[in-house]
Amino acid sequence: KRNTSGFSHSKIILTGEHAVVYGNPAIALPFPLKVEAIIEEITSDIIVESTFYTGPLEQIPTKLKGISACIQQVLSDLNRPCDKLKITIHSQIPIGKGLGSSAAIAVAIVRGLFSFFETKLDDETLAAFVHTAEVYAHGNPSGIDMATAMSDTPIWFQNGDIVRLEVTSPLHFVIADSGRIGNTQKTVSRVRALYDKDEVLKENSLRRMKEIAFAAKSAMAKGDILELGKLLNKNHSELIRIGVSDDGLNQLVHTAKKAGALGAKLTGGGDGGCMLALTDSKEKAEEISSALASAGAHQTWCFTIES
Ligand code: PMV
Repeated sequence: KRNTSGFSHSKIILTGEHAVVYGNPAIALPFPLKVEAIIEEITSDIIVESTFYTGPLEQIPTKLKGISACIQQVLSDLNRPCDKLKITIHSQIPIGKGLGSSAAIAVAIVRGLFSFFETKLDDETLAAFVHTAEVYAHGNPSGIDMATAMSDTPIWFQNGDIVRLEVTSPLHFVIADSGRIGNTQKTVSRVRALYDKDEVLKENSLRRMKEIAFAAKSAMAKGDILELGKLLNKNHSELIRIGVSDDGLNQLVHTAKKAGALGAKLTGGGDGGCMLALTDSKEKAEEISSALASAGAHQTWCFTIES
C-alpha cells in the first residue's frame, strides 16, 4: 500500500502582529512543534483521521471546512477528484494558541498530497492552496502564518512579500501558553473598530509598531539581543494599547521579566494564547520557563534560533 508524508511546523510572531494586517512589516520565526500528514491509498472514500475529527471528508465539521476545501481543490487540480485516500494528521501544535496550527496542518497536507501523486510543488502553488484553508479559518488572514509554516528560517513579512532573515547570534526563547484559547478573528475586528474610531491613534500606533519592527530587524542582524529585548517590551506595550492583551498574559510577561528575561510580549492574536520571552542562554531560558510554569502557564517550551 502506497503512503507518503508531508511536513510542516508551528510559528511564533516576534514582532508586528495585528499591525501586519494593515500592511506593516512583521518578523516571524519557525517554531519546532511539528505536523505530519500521512497520505495512504484506501478502497473507499476520502477519510481524515486526527485528534479533532476522524471520519469522511464530506462530513468534516464546519470548524474544519477550510481543510476540506483545500484538499478538494488540490485533488481537483491534480485531476484526482475520485481517488480514495486516508489522510492522517499528527500535530504537536495546540489549537487556538497563536502558534499557527491551521496553516501548518494545511501546508503538511498539501505537501503530502503532492508527494503522494509525485508532482512537483512550488511555493506559489502551495501558498495558493493553503490560503484557501486559511480564509475559512481566519477570515482575512495577513498570510504570515502560512509564510512561516513554509519557511525554515526567520522571515520578514510585509504585504505578502517574504524576506529570509539572518541571525548573527543565537536567540534563546521561552514560549508559554496562558491556557486560554485566543480568538484571532475577534481581536482583529476589535482592533479594526478601535482604529476606525480614531485615525490619530491608528496612525501613531502603526507608525510605532513599524519602527519597532525595523529596529528589531536591525538588532537581529547586529546580534544586539539587549536591544531586541527592549523592543519586544515596547511591542507588548503597543499591543496593550490596542486592547489585545489580558491580565493573564500581562502577568506572564511580568513574571518572565522578573525571572531575568531581556524582553517579553504576547505573541499572535492575543486575548489568551501564548507569550514569548527572550534571553541569552539555554540555562536562563530553563529558569524563566520554570518561573512561568509556577505562575500558572499551562505549558512552556524553550527553543533556540541558531545563527
Ligand atoms: O494566528 P495568530 O493568532 O498567531 O494571529 C495572527 C496574527 C495577526 O496579525 C493577529 C492576524 C493576521 O492575520 O496576521
